[in-house]
Amino acid sequence: MKELLERYPASAEHMLDMLHDLQDAEPKNYLRPEALQAVADYLSVPVSDVVSTATFYTMYSLKPRGKHVIRFCESPPCQLVGAESLIEILSELLGVAVGETTADGAFTLETASCLGVCGVAPAMMIDAEVYGNLTKERIVEAINAVRGSNA
Ligand code: FES
Repeated sequence: MKELLERYPASAEHMLDMLHDLQDAEPKNYLRPEALQAVADYLSVPVSDVVSTATFYTMYSLKPRGKHVIRFCESPPCQLVGAESLIEILSELLGVAVGETTADGAFTLETASCLGVCGVAPAMMIDAEVYGNLTKERIVEAINAVRGSNA
């Protein structure tokens, strides 16, 4: 953890990058309490400052998640082109509700605000990859591709 933090100067302007790196280094894709404390100590700020930052942004999680995190856009432009029913389809396909992780620990399903790719709405991200112009078929393909890449 120390090595990851020391990549950055001990300045609060780097807190988001530090949180990203610590979360990415955790196999369960979340920020452990020790990680939050380590950032607070490194930056000499109260841990409550780090917790408020980590809970403000939806890309961070304080709860363990699956190996892959799906963030499905639920902002109005995506909703207008069917996001809501596609989230239901994805939820059924994975067998989990939004906010849950599949029993095999492979996927966590989350919703998010605009992913910045409204031109290809409806859209979702799986980890850092964007999937746009979604249909039921494209969602099934994307999930199978990610599952297959782990085989
Ligand atoms: Fe969904 Fe912008 S509204 S990507």
